[in-house]
Amino acid sequence: MKTDDAMRVIFRSHGSPSVLEHQSLAINPLGPGQVRIRNHAIGVNFIDTYFRSGLYPPPALPSGLGTEGAGTVIECAEDVTQFRIGDRVAYVQSSLGAYATQHCVDQGRLVHLPDDISFKTAAGGLLKGLTTICLFNRVSQPKSGDTVLFHAAAGGVGLLACQYARRKGIRLIGVVSTEAKAELARSAGAWATILATDDVAAQTRQLTGAKGVKFVYDSVGRATWQASLNATAACGHLISFGNSSGPVENVALAQLARAGSLTVSRPILFDYISDSAELRSYAQEFFQCVREGIKVQVGATLSLSQAERAHELLESRHTTGSIVLIP
Ligand SMILES: NC(=O)c1ccc[n+]([C@@H]2O[C@H](COP(=O)([O-])OP(=O)(O)OC[C@H]3O[C@@H](n4cnc5c(N)ncnc54)[C@H](OP(=O)(O)O)[C@@H]3O)[C@@H](O)[C@H]2O)c1
Repeated sequence: MKTDDAMRVIFRSHGSPSVLEHQSLAINPLGPGQVRIRNHAIGVNFIDTYFRSGLYPPPALPSGLGTEGAGTVIECAEDVTQFRIGDRVAYVQSSLGAYATQHCVDQGRLVHLPDDISFKTAAGGLLKGLTTICLFNRVSQPKSGDTVLFHAAAGGVGLLACQYARRKGIRLIGVVSTEAKAELARSAGAWATILATDDVAAQTRQLTGAKGVKFVYDSVGRATWQASLNATAACGHLISFGNSSGPVENVALAQLARAGSLTVSRPILFDYISDSAELRSYAQEFFQCVREGIKVQVGATLSLSQAERAHELLESRHTTGSIVLIP
């Protein structure tokens, strides 16, 4: 079955944002445990560009795109017990295909969206907010008074991390590409900022009495790996959690020894929320953070038909905060 207004974004081959196409969406019967959602807002995440480019292989081609959205339940499979038609919901870890007017998601991957959290805030902030919560509580546990280095501090994850760190009393040094982004990161809560074009490690050491920082959060990857190693204090922890500039490859363990007995992790949010109860508990924590003043700053709101433009902006470093697509 097809409906006139149901559409989705797909790609048939890997490449630049221009490989994204729009297609009418076939409305297939739901599988066991599935819920059909009318999306009201869709989250754009850097991981979407990895699937499109081929850095991360999708299960098959042609492929849908996107894993995050927020909307209303319009249909439930017979065995679904946790959700009903009309419920407001959000998700961060669906199968690829969230860039669509409607999407089918397993009930275990859905969270109820409280009435006081808008669809746009959920789509713009849930995946990035859960990432921030996991980075600062599960992957590493910086304490009040610790100084940390955070790359891409004015991005989607970055602006949430600046705010979260300030609430916890953590001194976050944000790395950004422009003075305007630096101002934004500082107003969100960064204790200090460094321009990416400067000597990031040297400036970090200058700001920390030559010691370096106990924790480095690096989502940029290839381009910043060496600077991150050099900025980490002896016995510190370097958390590499993204590839915005390309993946980090060919790391010799001896490098970590030479840099001062460092620990390195390469976490993926989805491994930390694979249990539904854990996913929902972190989501509640994030919603509470929003109620208490953490702002999801959506720097660009585009229509679903502008998905190609969204990817161009994200990959060319022209965005701040989150990008949301509206179907
Ligand atoms: N491991 C996980 O589970 C997980 C979960 C969520 C996100 N992430 C990662 O976290 C990062 C942030 O995600 P996001 O969606 O919030 O994106 P984002 O931070 O809004 O956008 C990426 C930012 O990275 C910076 N950047 C530096 N070098 C770049 C380059 N060569 N190309 C493009 N950007 C570059 C840019 O900021 P400047 O202009 O200031 O340099 C850019 O704005 C991504 O790497 C993503 O993969 C990982």
